[in-house]
Amino acid sequence: MRKPVLAANWKMNHGPSDARAFMRTFLARYARHTDRSVIVFPPAVSLGEMVAATKERPDILLGIQNIHWEDKGAFTGEISAPMARDAGARVVLVGHSERRHVFGEKDDETRRKCAAAARAGLRPMLCVGERLEERRAGETERVVLRQLHAGLADLDPAHMAQMLIAYEPVWAIGTGQTAEPRDASAVHVLIRGALDQLAGDRAVEIPILYGGSVNTGNAAALLAAPDVDGLLVGGASLDPEGWATIART
Ligand code: 13P
Repeated sequence: MRKPVLAANWKMNHGPSDARAFMRTFLARYARHTDRSVIVFPPAVSLGEMVAATKERPDILLGIQNIHWEDKGAFTGEISAPMARDAGARVVLVGHSERRHVFGEKDDETRRKCAAAARAGLRPMLCVGERLEERRAGETERVVLRQLHAGLADLDPAHMAQMLIAYEPVWAIGTGQTAEPRDASAVHVLIRGALDQLAGDRAVEIPILYGGSVNTGNAAALLAAPDVDGLLVGGASLDPEGWATIART
């Protein structure tokens, strides 16, 4: 019922020229598949190139890595949800671990950003995940549920149904230390249960992706784990051949 979602987060990599070259190779290696969704989150400055590159490939959805919660105003350097949508983004990452832990983004900001995205017709991909010390202290459940409830606080079930959730344990991001499929699965089951309570009947529409050191070697096993509906890939999505292999998983 839920199609698998394969998503690439390029982070601060691939400006417009690199993005164009990447897409030439990637599109030649990845034929359209109707049984899955592919999303790419380029840096905002590369969105224009990506829109041009995917003109004949409506199966590739584009996203933006961050938005501000206001629609416009005196916020130098920021990009709003309506602007991102106008530029071609259909999905937005909210509360990515690097936003939370490098830039100090708080739960309250993720709440406002999810609401701003929903208002603008952008699908928020809310990222949640515990740090290593939190996992060791047995706090995974508490942290993940807190982040989840905060992000969804201002959304009604119809807007929640448009969301995607990414479980990205902070200790697995960029470390080569992937979560075991059964450990990822346990948290996905927890998230699924919370979504059932929050979104009721509409919860079945919300995919839950796993992210954190996904690569061509472990993608299939992670995707096969119970309640893992997709993958959010950082480093391994930067190479067009590797990303095509993962997207075909
Ligand atoms: P890596 O795949 O590089 O660990 O990054 C994961 C991530 O943060 C995707 O959003």
